[in-house]
Amino acid sequence: MPRNIIDVIDLSVAEIDQLIATAEDIIENPVKYQDACAHRQLATLFFEPSTRTRLSFESAMLALGGSVLGFSEANSSSTAKGETVGDTVHTVSCYADIIAMRHPKEGAPYAAAQFSEVPIINAGDGGHNHPTQTLTDLLTIHREKGRLDGFTIGFCGDLKFGRTVHSLVNALSRYGNINFVLISPEELKLPRYVKEQSLKSNGIPYAQTTDLESVIPQLDILYMTRVQKERFFNEEDYLRLKDSYILTPEKLRSAKPDLSILHPLPRVNEIAVAVDRDPRAAYWKQVKNGKFIRMALILKLLDIHV
Ligand code: NCD
Repeated sequence: MPRNIIDVIDLSVAEIDQLIATAEDIIENPVKYQDACAHRQLATLFFEPSTRTRLSFESAMLALGGSVLGFSEANSSSTAKGETVGDTVHTVSCYADIIAMRHPKEGAPYAAAQFSEVPIINAGDGGHNHPTQTLTDLLTIHREKGRLDGFTIGFCGDLKFGRTVHSLVNALSRYGNINFVLISPEELKLPRYVKEQSLKSNGIPYAQTTDLESVIPQLDILYMTRVQKERFFNEEDYLRLKDSYILTPEKLRSAKPDLSILHPLPRVNEIAVAVDRDPRAAYWKQVKNGKFIRMALILKLLDIHV
């Protein structure tokens, strides 16, 4: 069976730390890695829209000297003819050495992996998980703070449907001495199963609030998120909730001088563009980090040592 990454818990803490170390070495010494994946192929199968995840995977493989193939919308594949995800993935695993796959249905990458002859990476499944965004977030936190424990992190926005939040809470619950502050409207609170699995079962305390401004002064990291329009059942609810939080330079006046602001992107309205000029904004660095950590992950899953 090939090694798949469907969920962050598929990686041990030691493996995550090793991936971060590799990514940091890649950042320092890119030339060393430029032919590491020569003659290897990555397929990106995206059944849902994406900019950063798909292109950072492709950019990562190209920077390793490999090549890429795939599709960026289901309608251009035989899915439109009624082919099952299992058969599509089985087919692509005959052509590629590794597959990154995004799908609107929760669990689809897990199911598809049963039909694959090569490693499958979950690049986002519905409102469930997004493990490689989490690796990107962890690398960014490590580079900003120099560590992955001993801080207060606020998650703000759509904590219900935001898969990046679910995976990051899960990953951070395995590091020590972290305070979680969950900031969302009542309707978009972190799902109970995530709280049970990641926080309660590990005895990790957390606070829940609807008010960003009252908690901003205590945060070391603020993880902003987009309200996930595509997961709502009716537009009325989306329109009512979409602008619940808008981070502005004014709101940041009471924040710590060494706060790090993260966002998986895309942003819609939740961070004013003026915040980009604030030295505490780390989300454009996060975009860059996404490529390097995916390079490290591809090397690991293909068992290539540089
Ligand atoms: C996120 C996603 O797709 O879950 N984007 C990303 O991969 N960087 C966040 C989002 O879409 O809001």
